[in-house]
Amino acid sequence: MATVKQGRGGKEIAVLAYSGGLDTSVAIRWIMEKYSADVITVSVDVGQKEDLREAADRAVENGAIDAIVVDARKEFASSYLSSAIRSNALYEGRYPLSTALARPLIASKVAAVARSYGAKYVAHGCTGKGNDQVRFELAFTALDPSLRVIAPIREWNMNREDEVAFAQERGIKLKKSQPSRFSTDENLWGRSIEGGELEDPWTPPPEEIYEWTSHPSEWPDRDEMLDISFDSGIPVEIDGKRMPLDELVMELNLRAGRHGVGRIDHVEDRFVGIKSRENYECPAASVILPAHRALEGITLSRDILLFKPLLEQKFSELVYNGMWFSDLRNAVAAFVDETQRNVTGKVRVRLYKGAATVCGVYSERSKYTASLSTYGRGDTFDQRAAQGFIYIAGLHLRGTASAELEKIEVKKRSLERKVQKEA
Ligand code: ARG
Repeated sequence: MATVKQGRGGKEIAVLAYSGGLDTSVAIRWIMEKYSADVITVSVDVGQKEDLREAADRAVENGAIDAIVVDARKEFASSYLSSAIRSNALYEGRYPLSTALARPLIASKVAAVARSYGAKYVAHGCTGKGNDQVRFELAFTALDPSLRVIAPIREWNMNREDEVAFAQERGIKLKKSQPSRFSTDENLWGRSIEGGELEDPWTPPPEEIYEWTSHPSEWPDRDEMLDISFDSGIPVEIDGKRMPLDELVMELNLRAGRHGVGRIDHVEDRFVGIKSRENYECPAASVILPAHRALEGITLSRDILLFKPLLEQKFSELVYNGMWFSDLRNAVAAFVDETQRNVTGKVRVRLYKGAATVCGVYSERSKYTASLSTYGRGDTFDQRAAQGFIYIAGLHLRGTASAELEKIEVKKRSLERKVQKEA
């Protein structure tokens, strides 16, 4: 990467997080005109199925002085997804946070390019109504508060038709495919779809929104069994085949998606206070998260299992709200990491007709003690011990009950006296 302090002709530089879609394509020209800055685009591959090189070439044709593509799939898996898996992270209990997890990583790549070019500005193509603007900007703030943010779509207040007209007027080259009426975002951990008729929560999602999960009419009639091995809370093998996390996630997206696993229809609460209806396809997450939780069930102590969900919820909320680079998120992750030392073993999952069902767990570090839980021969538990356990557990109930009985007794006696007097 070059270290030029200024762009062509001594202009300031703006580094734009660039996806190649309509918003960021028109943003290049708008920044050039409005801020008289030179634009460098950064496209980060987090597993979206897009041709980012082609998009980058278009950025240069549309006026960017440089267009950088960063392959961050491995880092996304090893530094972000691993943490989300260990935390059983689901926002509002439903959304595996796919879009939310990728934003701080993308922001960190943009900030790194900005630093190496001595750029004054960083820019993104988010609207002023969503979570993503918050996530980008909080990440920029945490990484380098001296960077100035340009948010063309928000500052400009244009709708899609205006943007298309702007592009036509200036001969800006756009992606060949027709822009869809839905807004989508994708990476290894899932696909998000919103807008169009989905904005009415009463309208069932039309089949055309799905790309990773099959329609019920295509679900295989035979089930498919999967063995997933975990090492310290991270999935490392499928059916005995070891693979890096990014590849494992991609394989599960395909295999579970074929059975229609991973469709999520969620009216969620954005950080900015707006409720929004979002649909997701997260096949791999819909297999890995329940499998991980099942393995925790035999490898963690009761105390941790009952306490950890409080921090899992905090983790999810912090990630959703763009607080990835915060002290609290780091501290929560440190706690979660500490709990995962024994979460090693394997989980058997059945894929069948739209569902992923855990149907077996095994661990060398299991805390499950058959000789205690069995109702059959080989029982080592002395059942007589339970009597004293229940007596002590119930002592305070006994105290309350006795006091109540005493009150009733007193009432009864005074009533009897009254009756005697009247007789
Ligand atoms: N609602 C999700 C989130 O806030 C996804 C946002 C991006 N979605 C989209 N369809 N463009 O993380």
